[in-house]
Amino acid sequence: MAGEDGVALPKLPEGVFFDDGELTLSYSEQEPPWAEGLYRQVVWGTRGLRYRLLEPRVMLDALQRSGWVTFLRQTTPIGAYGLVPGIRSWNGERVPAIYRTFLALRPELTGRSLGRVLVAETRRFLQEQLPRGVVFGFIEDDNTASLAISRRAGYVPIASVVAENYAVLRPAAVAGVRRLEAQERERLQDCLETLYAGHDLTDFDQSVVPEQCWVLERGGVWVAALQAERRRFELVDLGYRGWLKRAVPWIPVVRQLVDPRDYRFLWYQHLWFREDQPGAIFDLMQGVLYAMGHRLANLQFDRRSPVYARWRRSGRLGPLAVFRNGFQVMADLRDLAPTGRPILCTTRGA
Ligand SMILES: CC(C)(COP(=O)(O)OP(=O)(O)OC[C@H]1O[C@@H](n2cnc3c(N)ncnc32)[C@H](O)[C@@H]1OP(=O)(O)O)[C@@H](O)C(=O)NCCC(=O)NCCS
Repeated sequence: MAGEDGVALPKLPEGVFFDDGELTLSYSEQEPPWAEGLYRQVVWGTRGLRYRLLEPRVMLDALQRSGWVTFLRQTTPIGAYGLVPGIRSWNGERVPAIYRTFLALRPELTGRSLGRVLVAETRRFLQEQLPRGVVFGFIEDDNTASLAISRRAGYVPIASVVAENYAVLRPAAVAGVRRLEAQERERLQDCLETLYAGHDLTDFDQSVVPEQCWVLERGGVWVAALQAERRRFELVDLGYRGWLKRAVPWIPVVRQLVDPRDYRFLWYQHLWFREDQPGAIFDLMQGVLYAMGHRLANLQFDRRSPVYARWRRSGRLGPLAVFRNGFQVMADLRDLAPTGRPILCTTRGA
């Protein structure tokens, strides 16, 4: 399939691409039937915060189209890895892209170098299949094992991402907040293209999901917009050295906001605001929390983004702001030069 500009979605061949007699790696466009169960068991995160996914199905469906690397030992499934093909911007051009996500082994098999085989051999496969484009994934700053195997396989950091928490104890309704209408999709895409013009890895034509978008309108004029997805985690460990320690002064507030057994929040993406009214985005962020019955939201930005700087200055994140965490974007630029431009963090499911 080729877009208007002739750039085709990367298409990877299905079948076995690694077999050493004991371990097998294969690629398929079908999600393995056991993957959802695996992703329910896996403990994600780092020393700072460890969590399980309560609704992996919702996140897997949010990927829209995805391919899967299946990892078998003899005939037993031991791990999986999602590869999401797309077309993203790079230095103003549209290029084929593969977003790497949902890398996981069965929990009882971690720490035995199996992850290294999975990542390194998959990279070899992708190098053969994608002569030009960008392969990338997000790895939490202190996920030492995942960063080590990614680096060793040859991926390099291209951006450092901050995940901010926005929280409102008692969100109130905000006048002028409404859902985006389906026919307004292109208008929102145009707004986003303009605001994020200097950013790499944008893919608004694919990642804007109109049913999840909201706008704030004042006097018949759009002043802010965003996309919101629901997430539910179970926090298995708040991490003494990280979260819990920093949480101490806030514990009464944290207790009111966070139920570790059912940690619910909204994932805000595609933030847009009028240049002359940046504060409006905070009104919309609160209005959407209210409308969707939530009190927390999480937002990811490249620290170098001027949009991030403007957004951050224009309002207050509330009592959970201290719990920000970071990610490295580890990438393989295939026949493309590094640009040093900020990236847009659309993850669609990770
Ligand atoms: C991340 C994951 C795939 C890594 O696979 P793994 O087989 O456990 O990792 P490996 O045994 O290949 O170890 C990789 C490297 O990390 C190091 N390492 C492993 N566990 C570590 C730990 N707990 N702390 C620090 N380093 C660690 C190893 O020494 C090795 O380093 P080296 O390559 O320099 O020798 C696996 O642990 C997993 O499924 N984790 C849960 C889900 C997850 O975090 N996914 C990644 C999201 S980005």
